[in-house]
Amino acid sequence: MSITAILGAGVMGETLLSGLVRAGRPVAELLVGEKRPERARELEEKYAVSVVSNLEATRRADTIALVVKPQDMGALLDEIAPAVRPGQLVVSLAAGITTSFLESRLPDGVPVVRVMPNTPALVDEGMAAIAPGAHCDDDHLEIAEELLGSTGRVLRVPEKQMDAVTAISGTGPAYVFFVVESMIEAGVHLGLPRGTATDLVVQTLVGSAKMLRETGTHPTVLREQVTSPGGTTAAALRELEVHKVRAAFLAAMEAARNRSAELAEGV
Ligand SMILES: NC(=O)c1ccc[n+]([C@@H]2O[C@H](COP(=O)([O-])OP(=O)(O)OC[C@H]3O[C@@H](n4cnc5c(N)ncnc54)[C@H](OP(=O)(O)O)[C@@H]3O)[C@@H](O)[C@H]2O)c1
Repeated sequence: MSITAILGAGVMGETLLSGLVRAGRPVAELLVGEKRPERARELEEKYAVSVVSNLEATRRADTIALVVKPQDMGALLDEIAPAVRPGQLVVSLAAGITTSFLESRLPDGVPVVRVMPNTPALVDEGMAAIAPGAHCDDDHLEIAEELLGSTGRVLRVPEKQMDAVTAISGTGPAYVFFVVESMIEAGVHLGLPRGTATDLVVQTLVGSAKMLRETGTHPTVLREQVTSPGGTTAAALRELEVHKVRAAFLAAMEAARNRSAELAEGV
């Protein structure tokens, strides 16, 4: 039996916990570290999981998932470091916290994996990128893949790509929601009831996303397939080009990448 401890059961911690439970992981193999008694009771009632102190969870676990806010990570590491052993695996989901920061606060030789998850994990359609620390081997990455695989897809990347990953998939759901909002508003401007516009946009998004994933066809080809010469789509796409939407996306994601790098530096 391999025990996984989740330290920090906020939005992302609970998402991971519920994903593991839905994926069939026995709750006897899960532990949660949570300091607020009322939150502990809520999680115990909802998932029948054991909620214990961070130290007890750390002592008993084989894999320790750190899911606190980046600014709380230093204090959490100070608390658990005396109980962490090299035979364990530490997996951090905190944005901008580097493997070298984690390794410097943990006993020598403890393997560490850094993860950038995203919120569609809530509906088992997450996209998590994982990067190994200095003491990590393939078995450790496989354990992290299995852990994150309970809430969606997992991709291995070198750590130097993590700021770009943060800008694309970590922050990505917000851009998609922004586009969806804009299309719904446009539908209202064109005279559609808001509910109708919402139904049309959401299903169009889901359908397009499914086409991308299931056909594996390049988005340019899919777009060309619905762009007849001189037609309605061509007229719309011309306006998107005139308004520099492509350039705006590039600038937005560069800004997110740069901000991620700044946060990692503690700015
Ligand atoms: N949500 C996202 O979309 C997303 C996406 C990618 C990455 N992440 C990463 O996921 C991590 C968690 O984010 P979140 O959105 O889940 O934040 P959150 O909802 O604030 O959850 C953090 C939880 O950690 C608890 N906590 C703080 N210090 C603790 C300690 N020493 N021991 C045990 N628990 C402690 C907090 O409890 P209190 O409330 O009592 O302080 C809170 O329940 C962050 O590092 C973030 O970068 C989140």
